[in-house]
Amino acid sequence: MTHRRSFLKSALSAPLVSSAAFAQKQPGTALPPLPHPEDPAYWSKVRNQFLLARDKVFFNNGTIGAMPRIVMEKTVEHLRKMATDIAEWDYQGEEWISGYSDMASIRGKAAGLIHCEPIEIALTENVTCANSYVASGLNLEPGSEILITDQEHTGGESPWFNAAKRHGGTVTKVKINRPVRDRDEVLYQLTSAMSGRTRVLFISHMITGSGAILPVKEICAEARRRGILTVLDGAQTIGQIPVDVRDIGCDAYVGCFHKWLLAPAGCGFLYLRKERADQVWSSLASHQWDNHQDNGYRFTQRGTGSMSLMVGVEAALDFHFSLGPERVQKRIQYLGDYLRAGLRKIPKVKMFSPDDNSMCAGITVYGIEGVTGQQLQDEMWKRGRLRPRANSGGVRQCTHIFNSPEEIDRSLAIVRALSQA
Ligand SMILES: Cc1ncc(COP(=O)(O)O)c(C=O)c1O
Repeated sequence: MTHRRSFLKSALSAPLVSSAAFAQKQPGTALPPLPHPEDPAYWSKVRNQFLLARDKVFFNNGTIGAMPRIVMEKTVEHLRKMATDIAEWDYQGEEWISGYSDMASIRGKAAGLIHCEPIEIALTENVTCANSYVASGLNLEPGSEILITDQEHTGGESPWFNAAKRHGGTVTKVKINRPVRDRDEVLYQLTSAMSGRTRVLFISHMITGSGAILPVKEICAEARRRGILTVLDGAQTIGQIPVDVRDIGCDAYVGCFHKWLLAPAGCGFLYLRKERADQVWSSLASHQWDNHQDNGYRFTQRGTGSMSLMVGVEAALDFHFSLGPERVQKRIQYLGDYLRAGLRKIPKVKMFSPDDNSMCAGITVYGIEGVTGQQLQDEMWKRGRLRPRANSGGVRQCTHIFNSPEEIDRSLAIVRALSQA
């Protein structure tokens, strides 16, 4: 793929990232010291890499990310090439469509991000598809139980309801607190619900409706001890918090690039641990349907798709690596902590995110007594052109690297005014 070669030149000014990007390519080369996550000069340069209109503030990354300029440009450049030069495609070199080739370059980079082997990762359209491939591909015996929490997204839980109905199994929803109070409590709630009939545990790594990061490593260890297949929903984690699937020890991890990794919409992935991959049938079959040496290829192959989107995914991965995942994660954490600290000082604010900041990052969910979530969303827009998302009991406000403490201060001022009304 030639489209990305000039990425580093055009994406960000040289002193900002080139040494970091170089270090990515040279194992063992240390990254330059991280700037303080508050450093306004650095983050204002990063903000300049986004096309986001300056008269509006975007706080809804939990639904869809705002693409950096380079991601949009690479995607559009490829779309334009498709429209103008498609006659040049001779099937000898680069692929002009996705859905048939192994997409090795992107799968390799994505595997590096979540710490697995490239053969363990497949590119999918979104999280719902990745999750459905697992749920629909398993041979579940009648009577099998699938454990989930009571706070899963519809694209998380529905594939499991579908599988349970088809195979004569059941889905048990385990009630967890909102806010989650501490790790041990949620670990206890989930492990004590596991039974002799439980075959699958499906839970979010980070809960979409509260931002709580669950202690997935400990939960998966207990499930593994009981022979339960573990599937984690990472829709909200990739690009936001570190994810190491081998360290977590899950059997499958479904996620997307179009939220926190800032890729174009319609780009997800499936990680399937190689030791477990043969348990999952191909639901969508093309030429590679029975390839068990490279299971990731088997699930990546899904018929004609847009290579332009894939170019966008790769640009988003390159952008993320050029900034440095740790730098991005620290900034997101800093902004999330800043918002939560401000909210906690305002009377009548009810927090749905955990009190323990180490269990949260860039998603904060809160409400105001006497104000509905829809009212709060609408007032934010009306008074400040700020866009969080209404959520049960309040709003979900997501903070990413293109946001600033000043934007958060503006949202806090509106919350303060509404709580005094
Ligand atoms: C936790 C969780 N799971 C699944 C999904 C569905 O993701 P997708 O729309 O990529 O299928 C979302 C979307 O917001 C989510 O937050």
